[in-house]
Amino acid sequence: MNILVTGGAGYIGSVCAEVLIDRGHNVIVLDDLSEGHREAVDPRAAFCQVNLHDEVALDTIFRGNPIDAVMHFAALCLVEESVKKPGLYYRANVAAGINLLDAMLRHGVKRFIFSSTAATYGEPETTPIPEEHPTRPINPYGASKLLFERILEEFKVNSGVDYVTMRYFNAAGASQKYGEDHHPETHILPILFEVALGQRPAFQIFGTDYPTADGTCLRDYVHVVDIAEAHAIAVERIPRFSGRVFNLGNSRGYSVREVIESVERIASRKISVNISPRRPGDPASLVASSARARHELGWMPKYSSLDSIVASAWAWKQRFPKGYRGS
Ligand code: UFG
Repeated sequence: MNILVTGGAGYIGSVCAEVLIDRGHNVIVLDDLSEGHREAVDPRAAFCQVNLHDEVALDTIFRGNPIDAVMHFAALCLVEESVKKPGLYYRANVAAGINLLDAMLRHGVKRFIFSSTAATYGEPETTPIPEEHPTRPINPYGASKLLFERILEEFKVNSGVDYVTMRYFNAAGASQKYGEDHHPETHILPILFEVALGQRPAFQIFGTDYPTADGTCLRDYVHVVDIAEAHAIAVERIPRFSGRVFNLGNSRGYSVREVIESVERIASRKISVNISPRRPGDPASLVASSARARHELGWMPKYSSLDSIVASAWAWKQRFPKGYRGS
């Protein structure tokens, strides 16, 4: 298939583009490089530096390329930033996506895979969280993604768009070539590696008073390559899964302290830690039930242990100690 990958220069989008190409698809990466990295675009993909608010540029891309499906990763995804700047998040995660859907429809493209998030659930009432769980996001990031999920339902009913929504839990790990590199970095593993390499003095644990076994937040870490495989399966059989929502996680929660211990094991270094107050917008525990993705998509994550996820991310960090900018 010919697949347009928005946000394909970002962390998850770059790995998805790589996996799609490895599976024989043609990929066009669309990214404005506001967050992504040119170095993270697979050289086998075509690349268009375009902002999703630019309707003229979108029309040019759809007119010039035989696109069968779109995977939409381009988004802002920081919980704390979204609490401070909700307008920014609704423009990037909702308005820009509507522009993309409108452009697709103008050019007769009706297959869409949406990159959503566990943040749509809010504070879970049950764990692990199934897809039917109530969606009551507690921050604008989750709310913006949930709103776009609902907009997609309208586009399916009214305009015949076949879509699949993927709700990721905590994407982590790296492929051989592409990994996690944000500026500023806020995610747990890259920050722990910076401490391990002496690039930061210490790791701040955001809250030790959560109602969890060791008082730190529980998260379900899922390998970015496993996420990419799920997307590939869905897009290859999209009419069959149209309108479905799938959780992507390993169904096992690890506390922040357990992640620190894993990094200490894999990197064979001691991590200096400071205790800080809770970070605004963080739920105590997010663990997926991924039974639906396993049964319906036949998705089988290859990296189910935290140590295997951490090891792949650490290997990438050692190859790119300063991220893409230093490559
Ligand atoms: N953490 C720290 N110190 C840090 C960074 C993170 O203690 O310096 C903790 C966080 O409080 C959290 C865990 O490590 O408990 C993971 O934090 P990340 O920033 O790596 O990831 P998030 O859990 O914030 O983000 C994930 C997904 C989002 C989703 C969000 C829901 O990436 O898509 O969970 O809260 F929206």
